[in-house]
Amino acid sequence: MNIPTKKLNNGFEISVLGFGTWLMGGRMEKENNYDDSRDLEVIQKTIELGGYRFDTAEMYADGYSEEVLGKALKGYEREKLFVTSKVSPTNLKYDDVIFACKKSLARLQMDYLDLYLIHMPNPEIDITETMRAFDDLKEKGLIKNIGVCNFNVERLREAQSKTKNKIVLNQVHYNLIFREPELRGVIEYCQNNDIFIEAWRPVQYGSLAKKGITIVDELGKKYHKTPGQIALNWLISQKNVITLTKTSSLKHLEENLGAVDWIMENEDIELLRKDYPIQFDKSNTVPLN
Ligand SMILES: NC(=O)c1ccc[n+]([C@@H]2O[C@H](COP(=O)([O-])OP(=O)(O)OC[C@H]3O[C@@H](n4cnc5c(N)ncnc54)[C@H](OP(=O)(O)O)[C@@H]3O)[C@@H](O)[C@H]2O)c1
Repeated sequence: MNIPTKKLNNGFEISVLGFGTWLMGGRMEKENNYDDSRDLEVIQKTIELGGYRFDTAEMYADGYSEEVLGKALKGYEREKLFVTSKVSPTNLKYDDVIFACKKSLARLQMDYLDLYLIHMPNPEIDITETMRAFDDLKEKGLIKNIGVCNFNVERLREAQSKTKNKIVLNQVHYNLIFREPELRGVIEYCQNNDIFIEAWRPVQYGSLAKKGITIVDELGKKYHKTPGQIALNWLISQKNVITLTKTSSLKHLEENLGAVDWIMENEDIELLRKDYPIQFDKSNTVPLN
């Protein structure tokens, strides 16, 4: 299948659904005796089914997720793939960013990243030097585009003012339950400033993929879709919003791909926004500080 894309006014184009790697290989450290065969199979199946956009980070399994992804993608035509990685908040000084990016590329066995993101803000390090490093990496061709994660409006404005390149994307925790980016104006700011919002944890570890919420079950019947597909489509049907899922299950992969080739009616998007019964302001994981 062809996963639809969205485009910014500056021409930057991205598919509405990417594939994450958090938990592939471990959490913050590599899991002992980790068997990556299931991950390799799912990543390769993703490509077979038309998914070419992958997301990882130096922080995931202490770099091992990048190795797994690199191993899985080896041999595929690089130009067809879209690969994102992220620099950790502890590595935001100029030299550390450059070094971290080169290490990520080595683990991925690649010459460049399509998108490089600040994984989360670090108020201890002046963002001026971080953005200067991002600009230099772009100039050298090691990264094609720049973005951030978990930035509020004020930080987004500040980061943009320190780079000569456009910040094309802000990755945030956003789904039917977690509404912080909506409530704090991040979604609106990105929509008005031609920036993509990439919603991470879109099915909240699978809990949004379960039946039992009446409003979702009814929309599922209307669109002939599963609850997980409703949760994902609610995101990508909104202006400038895209998402990414992670699965090590072929069944879930196929289900998630079934979320992208249709559009939810506006009145249903707003109905879910207003009436979804469990909503939290703050994410309990990475707050937009
Ligand atoms: N920038 C950031 O700060 C940040 C933070 C978190 C995540 N991310 C990125 O965003 C990606 C997605 O986030 P996430 O992994 O936390 O997302 P998620 O929405 O929680 O999805 C992943 C979990 O949900 C399960 N799942 C996936 N599809 C399912 C389905 N259709 N039905 C039932 N269960 C399903 C997966 O289990 P199975 O493997 O068993 O399918 C996995 O445990 C990450 O992998 C990572 O690349 C970025």
